[in-house]
Amino acid sequence: MPCLRAEAISVDFGSLKALDAVDLVLNWGEILGLIGPNGSGKTTLINAITGQVPLSAGRVLCDGEDISARPPHERALCGILRSFQTVRLFRDLTVSENIEVAVVAKGGSRREAQRIARPLIEEFGLGGKCDELARTLSYGDERRVEIARALAADPKYLLLDEPAAGMNEEETDGLLSILKTLPERRGLGVIIIDHDMPLIMRLSSRLQVLASGRTIATGGVDEVRNAPAVIEAYLGSDAGELRHA
Ligand SMILES: Nc1ncnc2c1ncn2[C@@H]1O[C@H](COP(=O)(O)OP(=O)(O)O)[C@@H](O)[C@H]1O
Ligand SMILES: [Mg+2]
Repeated sequence: MPCLRAEAISVDFGSLKALDAVDLVLNWGEILGLIGPNGSGKTTLINAITGQVPLSAGRVLCDGEDISARPPHERALCGILRSFQTVRLFRDLTVSENIEVAVVAKGGSRREAQRIARPLIEEFGLGGKCDELARTLSYGDERRVEIARALAADPKYLLLDEPAAGMNEEETDGLLSILKTLPERRGLGVIIIDHDMPLIMRLSSRLQVLASGRTIATGGVDEVRNAPAVIEAYLGSDAGELRHA
């Protein structure tokens, strides 16, 4: 079975152990919800998988191949694509161009890029805005463009860091309905980080919970949200939200 695998990954920032021997498996066709309190290491785990931060220990395997030593753009060519917690678009390019860039970066022609971008623009409800400059977009639209751009690169594994942050309820619902069917329609695996517990619970086929750089629970949604270690980790923050999601 092809999968994206992190084996005993550690990341140190000076004396801080941001990740301490964390394992993760992402299979094709599933959405893995990655949750945990603020500062628990969720973004660092994605950064370590995509190569944006160096590993202190452990390794990352993509479909069985050790990619730990590769830079981010080579991991992207292996099919590992991401969105950022803080949106990173080319602000002076149009919506279409921002999405087409992903195809051109892989060596595709401009024409091929347009052919791939067009249906994504429709799918993400950006049809009326395709010629607008990215810097004029609302925050919700920016996030949609960023995810569409990642999809234009034809990922096998898509890692989304708080994709619904800053979206209103209607935008969040729209995003949820696109993401929900993505793994099946496109045969890819998705990791989603979000603070919006109802969103995570509705989307995820499986959950992994981090606290202080370690995995404290993995499993099905119901199993994990009732686990004592998880409730304890969330106490004082959003424990209620977690249980009532
Ligand atoms: N580049 C960095 N340099 C130093 N410390 C960092 C860096 N990135 C993250 N950290 C620290 O690592 C810990 C985990 O951060 P992060 O992965 O961003 O958590 P989360 O995404 O779960 O909120 C936090 O204590 C954070 O302050
Ligand atoms: Mg984060």
